[in-house]
Amino acid sequence: MTQTTLGIHDVGSAAALAEVARRDASDPLRRYRDAFVLPPGLIYLDGNSLGPAPKAALAALHTAAHEEWAQGLIRSWNAAGWWRLASVVGDKIGRLIGAEPGETVVADTTSANIFKVLHAGLALRPGRTAILTEKSAFPTDIYIAEGIAHSTAGVTVRLSDDTGADFAKKLDGDVAVVLANQVDYRTGELRDVARVTARVHAAGAVIAWDLCHSAGAMPVDLAAARADLAVGCSYKYLNGGPGAPAFVYAATRHHAHLTQPLSGWWGHAAPFAFETAYRPEPGIRRLMCGTQPILSMRAMQASIDLWDDISIADVRSKSMALTRLFIDLVETSCRGHGLTLVSPRDDALRGSQVSFAHAHGYPIMQNLIARGVIGDFRAPNLIRFGFAPLYVSQRDVHDAVVILKDILDSGSWHDPAYAALSAVT
Ligand SMILES: Cc1ncc(COP(=O)(O)O)c(C=O)c1O
Repeated sequence: MTQTTLGIHDVGSAAALAEVARRDASDPLRRYRDAFVLPPGLIYLDGNSLGPAPKAALAALHTAAHEEWAQGLIRSWNAAGWWRLASVVGDKIGRLIGAEPGETVVADTTSANIFKVLHAGLALRPGRTAILTEKSAFPTDIYIAEGIAHSTAGVTVRLSDDTGADFAKKLDGDVAVVLANQVDYRTGELRDVARVTARVHAAGAVIAWDLCHSAGAMPVDLAAARADLAVGCSYKYLNGGPGAPAFVYAATRHHAHLTQPLSGWWGHAAPFAFETAYRPEPGIRRLMCGTQPILSMRAMQASIDLWDDISIADVRSKSMALTRLFIDLVETSCRGHGLTLVSPRDDALRGSQVSFAHAHGYPIMQNLIARGVIGDFRAPNLIRFGFAPLYVSQRDVHDAVVILKDILDSGSWHDPAYAALSAVT
């Protein structure tokens, strides 16, 4: 019998089942699981890619479509509050990322918002022309930075190997803005927002944080870190729905000087004055561009409302417990099958996901999905599992490892059906 460091005996044993049941019974977040539609028999470990549907979001979507749109028609912009929705929901997200009211707004996609904040960052540091980001950043971050460099005379992009020595070397007096991911999407490695922000400020630059993998997964305190700008998506741990609009943050101290080239009418100080000249809204809404997807935003609003009485400290401690348990159980029960942990072993350095490298990661993940354990695959060789504390239980973690072990022990993943590459992995 294998004894893990957590005291759980062989996965699948009565003792292991009793232990996870005991832990789940004392989980302060367990009542939230019922707030989501989770297909029976499925263990969903991909909420770091697309959160499941909250029941309240589906109800809100129905009301928005059938009442506000179908019956209210154009009147709903005023009567149903559609016009202010981006700010109302933005402020709710702001509470989860350490923003003051009026510093966060919902708009567009994360990619589009990166475009805006990088331009804003460049404009905040006139005379400096470089954007610094990491080679390991989510690719869209790099693509957008490169797009700005191609279309803006003199702007260059620097890619650092890490947030340590190479980062420090590249962070010289020409860097205007740094774009950093709080959680590495591949490894789940967590960055110290306050420490990196302080280092960027010491070099005279501003920082834009990509919070896609941290908002809703852990406490984020942009104000305490004195962060300048931030972006993030709402369809992962915030469960806003596929393609739900993203959010963008800027510290109040920068608002008066924020400029961005997507100067659409929604960012204007008086959109319904229909003035010929662009005049930016005084606050965060100057980072908006055009009409927002209201149906999506209604679903998202209901999802975000769930957070009103959730303790983010509970979320973080459960997230650490789930990821620690998963690592522990996989390493003890799937030993010898070629899995290598790439996520930090230290709880304090790990986000809410765990990734293992395996030479045949893709077919193994496809086999897992076919067996009802949904994670995902990130090229070239990572199987990635997200542990969203609002609906994942310790029992889920245990059962997922039982299935993974069975797939590896039996070699069922060798079936050629699991090798067929899909467009989305
Ligand atoms: C870290 C990170 N940044 C940016 C994006 C891109 O977001 P969007 O597709 O909303 O532009 C993603 C998408 O998964 C992401 O994980």
